[in-house]
Amino acid sequence: MAEELIISSSIDKEEKYNTLIPQLEALIGDEKDLIANLSNIAAALKQTLNFFWVGFYFVKNDQLVLGPFQGPIACTRINFGKGVCGTSWREKKTIIVPDVEEFPGHIACSSASKSEVVLPAFKNGEVALVLDVDSDKLNDFDTTDQQALEKVMRIIEKLL
Ligand code: SME
Repeated sequence: MAEELIISSSIDKEEKYNTLIPQLEALIGDEKDLIANLSNIAAALKQTLNFFWVGFYFVKNDQLVLGPFQGPIACTRINFGKGVCGTSWREKKTIIVPDVEEFPGHIACSSASKSEVVLPAFKNGEVALVLDVDSDKLNDFDTTDQQALEKVMRIIEKLL
């Protein structure tokens, strides 16, 4: 696996993602362990894009359960349809929330989190896990994030 990410800090967000994504594939290499790979993906996303919180929740029976993440401690379990993560699971789609205070039922793991994006990864047509990315700035996510992070989810699906 690659030992170090090579990403310039002076490029814009889209270029950062474009530089990061091939390096994620190199980072995974032939490693098959899901927890190890998701741990490094969370770290690489946080390090490159400087998000407040980046992490995964696994679908386990009727709840989401916290997986590998980078950032402050977080809620360990989220019910189906609850919060942004549970809504992404129920609706099987990416959800961008420009202002978490305006999202009905948002689960505030940290009062510092102001906006977020949640994306599902699928196995056999069902959501297997979600990626939750939180920012401490309002309105920090757009279609650039969505498109790039959806590419990351397709890479993750190959590991499921
Ligand atoms: N904000 C999430 C809960 C998870 S924490 O932010 C890490 C939600 O409403 O789904």
